[in-house]
Amino acid sequence: MDVLYASCEMVPLVKVGGLADVAGALTHALTDRGHRVRALLPLYEPVRERLSAHEMEAIGELTIEMGDGPVRGRVHRGRLPEHGAELLLLECARFFDRPDPYVDPATGRAWPDALLSHTFLCRGVLEVCRILDWAPEIVHLNDHQTALAAALLRGKNAPPALRQTATLLSIHNLGYQGIFPEDPVASGEVPRLLTEMGIGEALYRGGGPLAFHGRINLMKAGLQLADLITTVSPTYAREIQTDELGFGLGGLLRARADRLVGILNGIDTTRWDPLRDPLIPHNYGPSDFRGKERNKVRLLETMHLPPEPRVPLFGIVSRLVDQKGFDLLGEVLESALDVLDLRLVVLGTGQREHEECLQALARRFPDRLAVVIGFDEPLAHLIEAGSDFFLMPARYEPCGLNQMYSLRYGTVPVVHATGGLADTVEEFVVHTGRGNGIVFDAYTPQALRAAIERALALYRRTRAFKRLVAQIMRIDHSWGRAAEAHEGAYARARALRTAELEG
Ligand code: ADP
Ligand code: GLC
Repeated sequence: MDVLYASCEMVPLVKVGGLADVAGALTHALTDRGHRVRALLPLYEPVRERLSAHEMEAIGELTIEMGDGPVRGRVHRGRLPEHGAELLLLECARFFDRPDPYVDPATGRAWPDALLSHTFLCRGVLEVCRILDWAPEIVHLNDHQTALAAALLRGKNAPPALRQTATLLSIHNLGYQGIFPEDPVASGEVPRLLTEMGIGEALYRGGGPLAFHGRINLMKAGLQLADLITTVSPTYAREIQTDELGFGLGGLLRARADRLVGILNGIDTTRWDPLRDPLIPHNYGPSDFRGKERNKVRLLETMHLPPEPRVPLFGIVSRLVDQKGFDLLGEVLESALDVLDLRLVVLGTGQREHEECLQALARRFPDRLAVVIGFDEPLAHLIEAGSDFFLMPARYEPCGLNQMYSLRYGTVPVVHATGGLADTVEEFVVHTGRGNGIVFDAYTPQALRAAIERALALYRRTRAFKRLVAQIMRIDHSWGRAAEAHEGAYARARALRTAELEG
């Protein structure tokens, strides 16, 4: 199949969270299976730095009329060694010459022109097809930044050449929808914003797909008009149809339930393999994991914790945001560090209040808790390799990749039963040998505390614990199954599109 895959993140070029891992691995897996996949990304500064000039070739120019005049861009073709998919990089000085896709590092806040840069990218999807004289069979969009393209492909001004092209929108996180203006009381700005986008008012007027309680909602437009919607786990596909986790779009998703499929993400087992991982000091595998203990010692050293490898060590690598359960953890951590015999290492960046709360606790318990604020790929791998347990108390988690990395690294996941965490982790029962981690159901401090205590009790049963470690390292979450499921989804999206054109 001929696929245009559009995303704002993709490893190894630019990464904020799991979307980057998924975009890199899925496009690679599909290419390996014989499909022609072209991955379209904005040419952000880190992307430019990673692709030296000779790995990039300019193939065309484009001009997009926006409310305040023409915005010019350029399209480059690129390739990555060892990655089959062709890259299409959209250059635009005004919108993409920046170090981060979403946040201005100078202010710590979202880029103020996010609506316009997303609009430029989505209009760019159509332009790129024109430049390549290409009508892909599938345009696969990811999250709200690219969602508008699904609407533009069905709008009045859609290029006739792309009429047959089917669209698929993947929801990686419905908590971020691209709602503008950000402030609900500023809804009077909507007409001005529509003018600046330069797409006319048709998609908004009269309760159109873009309209959402008097504001513009990019995700909604895409969800309403995409031929097929996927999300990143079966449980999350059900949860987003509820009022609580639908974040205002639950009703729309219930109405389109027959177009919504949950496909659990895979993990890239070439990047995340304890036997070959170049980012950890000691490689190991399920039949001999002494290397794991050495990694633990190295991790304790790196984090300036006392060298006590017999004490159970928990790890966290996460964006430090409400979604990930840091409010809950905040309620439990102080007393847990005070009375339980455990160590915790945390790597992450995010909301100031969570960063500060963790740092304050680390000052209070310098021998028990170590916190690194920042984004650090090698340290993320060392934490996976060196910890005994990996803690993910997320309030909601569409898929979550770290619990799957943890399983592969023999690090027992301790998770809240939500979304993809519920689909991949099952409570371990010593006497039956079933299960692969520790799971708590209620999102309460008591339930989290009890889960941590179950983990500690399990750790004390050394033989059972070691058996579990060996067992979970053999669980296969590689991309084969998920890539196949995407092929099925693509075929279905095409069939739906064809039926619509004929009917
Ligand atoms: P999300 O996409 O919601 O952040 P996922 O679990 O899907 O959650 O993916 C997060 C990815 O980002 C993982 O690969 C994780 O290791 C990585 N990651 C998150 N925070 C950091 C950090 N501070 N340093 C390095 N890697 C990080
Ligand atoms: C989002 C979700 C996360 C998921 C990732 C990749 O960032 O928060 O749960 O694993 O996308 O799909």
